[in-house]
Amino acid sequence: MDTRVIMIQGRGETLSSEEEQALQEAGEVLRRGGLVAFPTETVYGLGGDALNPESSRKIYAAKGRPSDNPLIVHIARMEDLAAIVRQVSGEAALLARTFWPGPLTMILPKAESVPYETTGGLETVAVRMPSHPVARRLIVWGGGYVAAPSANLSGRPSPTSAKYVLEDMNGRIDMILDGGEGDIGLESTIVDLTVSPPQILRPGYITREMLETVLGQVGVDQTILQADSGQAPRAPGMKYRHYAPKGELTIISGPAGQVTNYINIHAAEDRKQGYKVGVIGTDEALAQYRADVVSSLGSRRDEDSIARHLYSILREFDDAQVTRIYSECFETTGLGQAIMNRLLKAAGHKLIVLDGTVSSAGQDNRV
Ligand code: TXA
Ligand code: MG
Repeated sequence: MDTRVIMIQGRGETLSSEEEQALQEAGEVLRRGGLVAFPTETVYGLGGDALNPESSRKIYAAKGRPSDNPLIVHIARMEDLAAIVRQVSGEAALLARTFWPGPLTMILPKAESVPYETTGGLETVAVRMPSHPVARRLIVWGGGYVAAPSANLSGRPSPTSAKYVLEDMNGRIDMILDGGEGDIGLESTIVDLTVSPPQILRPGYITREMLETVLGQVGVDQTILQADSGQAPRAPGMKYRHYAPKGELTIISGPAGQVTNYINIHAAEDRKQGYKVGVIGTDEALAQYRADVVSSLGSRRDEDSIARHLYSILREFDDAQVTRIYSECFETTGLGQAIMNRLLKAAGHKLIVLDGTVSSAGQDNRV
């Protein structure tokens, strides 16, 4: 299959007539059961008609994704929600009014119109209304209901630009709409509204604190930051080792000086043994690292930047064939919770906590 790539200038707020026509064509591809990758404000999505079981089967095949891992249905108009869920609860209406369009996905009981192929056999459906103008136009042209997982091959980091979509999906899908880089860079927050109190199944840009201002108490799935809580995650996709870089990733937590010191000592040892070593750092410590590839996620004071750059750095390390990776650690509250959730998953939960009381930076030879 030939994969057509279509450029959309800017974020698509004002479309040229050629661009509008291209989006209309892309919508027709979806209506006919084809697949189109498109930008959203989080990551690129791999879209198919959510109400067509054949389209959902094609999505799983293109991604190499297990078919028990349900898809998110993307809509563009508030009134479309009622057609795919059994009932729009008060909580759902409130969240939609507050956070849509935007990076929030709600789990609700599904209506009959949604095929089990889309929900991975579940009686619930995940729904989100993205804010990205290209996504919204495409959804409307495509019939209103677009199932879209992240547009990566299963097990790779979600794509934050069209270049990465092409890397994974060339020859597997009909079209890619190139709308530049995503604003957020991490997938949407998923909140389950079928339980009381509502529960966060995947942390994202819309934080627990933000949801609590609207809903009161909100729970968090205990599997989000723990390696083995003895519980299965409630979002089926969260059980897979996603976002895995090819190199072995270890996260180092502790006082800043000790972290840099630990990383440098280990990087030097690893390099002696023939490993190619990458470091995921931040602006504040970047100049101090000695490794083959050193990349900054941005300033520690700017969590948005850290979220936005994480997946592209993991992909760049893959391209550079880095075989060992060390990363700094981040806060586990607010947006940091989403960052740490993705980082821990990429690391297969390899986290080393340095004892802050033992020694000062530069003197710790035990490590
Ligand atoms: O930001 C996003 O949400 C992106 C963009 C493209 O919109 N999409 C995305 O989709 O991240 P995906 O398929 O990569 O992740 C969907 C997650 C999976 O972990 C899946 O298990 C969970 O949502 N999910 C979907 N439907 C569910 C349901 N009915 N109950 C529980 N979890 C569900
Ligand atoms: Mg994904």
